[in-house]
Amino acid sequence: MLDCLSIIERYYTPGNDDYRVLVIHSRQVAELAVALSQRLIGQGTPVDIEFVEEAAMLHDIGMCRTDAPGIHCHGSEPYILHGIIGRQMLDSMGLFRHARVCERHTGTGLTAAEIIAEHLPIEPPRDLLPESLEEKVICYADKFFSKSRPGEPAKTLERARTSLAKFGGDTLRRFDDMVALFGDPAHLTT
Ligand SMILES: [Fe+2]
Repeated sequence: MLDCLSIIERYYTPGNDDYRVLVIHSRQVAELAVALSQRLIGQGTPVDIEFVEEAAMLHDIGMCRTDAPGIHCHGSEPYILHGIIGRQMLDSMGLFRHARVCERHTGTGLTAAEIIAEHLPIEPPRDLLPESLEEKVICYADKFFSKSRPGEPAKTLERARTSLAKFGGDTLRRFDDMVALFGDPAHLTT
């Protein structure tokens, strides 16, 4: 098992507000992603649980370099790039599989067409969609937790869906596909 906190501590200082937001949020996402994965495993679908837990802990590591004061991040990059920055950080450590999760978790992933249509500052525009089950379950679990209110209980399915409306394109259709795959977290019995 990777020591995710020591990886986080390369970029964040324990005790600081950005560290608190990141670690509380990432633990919430990891716990839900693992629970959803366990349900799939119970249904006979293999999922790499250890990887899911690790990558969920690291998926937002790039946020500190973005300009997002509401979550105590005072970098210079647009917030939409936090996944791509996280990918670069983890690639630099050789964590290429975890890095993909960072890059592909924004919204329900982004297509090149959506990046162009919404004038997102992602260069070059390219498809950044979660592909493996592990990438998808982390992306999905993330949609139930807000970083501006870390520690708050999981959103309802309806609220999670509403929060995605701002992304446009096929975002909601992909969310509904994930609901069909992973189910409503409120129905977890664990
Ligand atoms: Fe997140």
